[in-house]
Amino acid sequence: MPLNTIAKAVGTPCYIYSSATLNRHFEVFQAPLVASETDHIICYAMKANSSLAILDLLVRAGSGFDIVSGGELYRALQAGANPRKIVYSGVGKLPHEIQAALNANILMFNVESADELERIQQVAQAMDKVAPIALRVNPDIDPKTHPYISTGLYESKFGIDIRDAFAVFERAKALSHIEVVGVDCHIGSQITRMQPFLDALARIKTLVQDLQKQGFQIRYLDMGGGLGIPYDAEEPPLPSEYTQAIVERTRDLDCTLIFEPGRVIAGNAGVLLTEVQYLKQNREKRFVIVDTGMHHLIRPTLYHAYQAVQAVNPREGAGFVADLVGPICESGDYLAKDRHLPEVQQGDLLALMSAGAYGYSMASFYNSYARPAEVLVKGDQYALIRERDTLEDMVRGERLPQFDGD
Ligand code: LLP
Repeated sequence: MPLNTIAKAVGTPCYIYSSATLNRHFEVFQAPLVASETDHIICYAMKANSSLAILDLLVRAGSGFDIVSGGELYRALQAGANPRKIVYSGVGKLPHEIQAALNANILMFNVESADELERIQQVAQAMDKVAPIALRVNPDIDPKTHPYISTGLYESKFGIDIRDAFAVFERAKALSHIEVVGVDCHIGSQITRMQPFLDALARIKTLVQDLQKQGFQIRYLDMGGGLGIPYDAEEPPLPSEYTQAIVERTRDLDCTLIFEPGRVIAGNAGVLLTEVQYLKQNREKRFVIVDTGMHHLIRPTLYHAYQAVQAVNPREGAGFVADLVGPICESGDYLAKDRHLPEVQQGDLLALMSAGAYGYSMASFYNSYARPAEVLVKGDQYALIRERDTLEDMVRGERLPQFDGD
């Protein structure tokens, strides 16, 4: 499907996703689990890309969802998700969110603190329901990734320190409206080596075995997400190697395995299409100014992340080194810094690669720009799956105050 065609019909900036790639990523991840007849649930971490059409595609592929808010629960249910394949993570669950999840009969809550456990008990008791829970355990493993996306070290806000986990499990057992069903961990994101996962698994496995010895019925072992993808020259383990390695080491536990992959499913299934507006050269530097930026793809500036840039219609010429920047009034508004860019002229289309995960889902209205449109491609067809915001969308819900005396 030529991106030129989509650009002409939908305009830029625009996120474009491939349904074939999304399906393939899901299948590749799942293949060793199916082949080894391992009981498992893949709960796609929808924070990576929670657009309804993407969720719908994954529901059809058989996916469940890892959610982190009532808003994500709403989206998952809208997309027809099976609530028995929904796990609910996140450190700040609100009473009304817990209530909604209990009403939906989700598979389990991944509890992130002793306080949260007490709150879930209270909410469940008031509703006369029993809440199935796993404790998210923090195994103190350095995932060797960007600090903003490292979650499994003791200094992080996530999970319950593995040294305290047993006591919290004991407390959970004593609560009338809580049922302990699992153990969960998630150590970070964009992890490009197998070792941190294996180190975390070794610790978690010991805990599961100890709990089982003490009579806890641990039915689910949730290994979280975090498998990295190639943005540039990274060589992360293949999804099949990753799942295979976990299957081999957990066979004796008699648990259903849960995985929460986000990026590895969606990241390399999408691009952000943009149009060159200006070429600018000052005495120090060259800039290519495009019609998208940190408001639509914040990863480069927030994590110093690399997103590859490709010309949609390559020109003759060696290209040049420049910053690829957006229109936002911040020096941090860049998509690529000191990058060797392809030869471009005003009006050319560029594709920001690997933008399917944590792209649109982190987009904002900053500087009062509309958020981009989203398009899904299937074979030789494409469909608009989200309209570009209108100016009316941008101000929807805003009011002028009516104060006495004005
Ligand atoms: N499960 C939990 C509990 C998580 O917190 C996350 C991601 C995932 C699963 C999925 O991780 P993945 O498979 O996508 O690595 N905005 C950042 C990434 C933040 C990840 C947050 N948690 C980025 O653009 O790099």
